Amino acid sequence: MSETLTTNKYPLLIDSFNRKHNYLRISLTDSCNFRCTYCMPDEHQHFLPHNKLMTSDEIEQLAKIFVNHGVNKIRLTGGEPMVRKDFADIITRLAKLNVELLITTNGSLIHQHIATLIENGISSVNVSLDSLKPSTFEQLTKRNQFEKVWNNIQLLLNHNIRIKINAVAIHGKIESEIEDFIQLTKHLPIHVRFIEFMPFTGNHWNKEKVITADEMLEIVNQNFDTIKLQDEKHETAKKYKVIGHEGTFAFITTMSNQFCGECNRLRLTAEGKIKNCLFGKDELDLLEALRKNEDVSTIILQSVMSKHAIMGGQFNEGYNYTDASKIVNRSMIEIGG
Ligand code: 5AD
Ligand code: SF4
Repeated sequence: MSETLTTNKYPLLIDSFNRKHNYLRISLTDSCNFRCTYCMPDEHQHFLPHNKLMTSDEIEQLAKIFVNHGVNKIRLTGGEPMVRKDFADIITRLAKLNVELLITTNGSLIHQHIATLIENGISSVNVSLDSLKPSTFEQLTKRNQFEKVWNNIQLLLNHNIRIKINAVAIHGKIESEIEDFIQLTKHLPIHVRFIEFMPFTGNHWNKEKVITADEMLEIVNQNFDTIKLQDEKHETAKKYKVIGHEGTFAFITTMSNQFCGECNRLRLTAEGKIKNCLFGKDELDLLEALRKNEDVSTIILQSVMSKHAIMGGQFNEGYNYTDASKIVNRSMIEIGG
């Protein structure tokens, strides 16, 4: 929706630091068929009961309200969004809205939904993949499904769907994978993004496990000639390319170089709570309001106006000074990426 068409009933989502929010990430479920330890804490055994999750109809209704407020980009996350039985129904509903619709997935179920993705014009998919070695993959995810994920990446490529690979970079683990990931970009139009390891409840984060973008770039530069690419506005990834390679690579520098000043994102958890920041502890219940027929817009605006300047107000002084035990938040699987 253009700014001129926005009425007072649906003001744009501008916060007290003048950041305009046009990007909503919706978690469809807190459950997943993988068990990545950095995301799903050991004790996270039971998932939300069905009646607590937003239904496809409720997701559509809430998404429409955000769109009225100027949201024009929606990403579906999880847990694993494709484990939902009504995934196709949700995609079909949201694809009708005037938004860029994107998905982040672990890639294991894409073959079941490829027709839905194509029919609904999904042009880009982010696949979370932290290792290209089947045995390491199994250690990380606790599932022996590397081949399935890899075949599904090929499937997306065959259908000309743009692929970004998200690899969580943990110090001591990612180093031996960096070269293979970069080699992947040689002949394939794949965009690899190394994400600096972030602290969430129960994920055993400490600052020694962080490897920064600068450190990773140094490793890449030992073997390849790279160039810096132009980053788009609001882009969280700092993009590079190896000269002559078809794909690109990038770093998401949440820990070493925060990009909060440019933030345009809001999040909706699987049980319908709005989170104005990945690292914030504040949540407001939109689903409850919707079910009680109360005014959802007012609550969205309240959440936007209370957004902190940096990192949910929880750690502003650099990751070296961060005490993970003092951060009040959920685990990643409950937030939804
Ligand atoms: N640190 C960095 N990235 C993470 N992800 C999940 N947990 C973490 C973490 N602790 C990544 C997933 C997914 C993306 C949404 O976030 O790999 O691709
Ligand atoms: Fe599942 Fe993704 Fe979390 Fe791994 S990172 S447990 S694949 S939601």
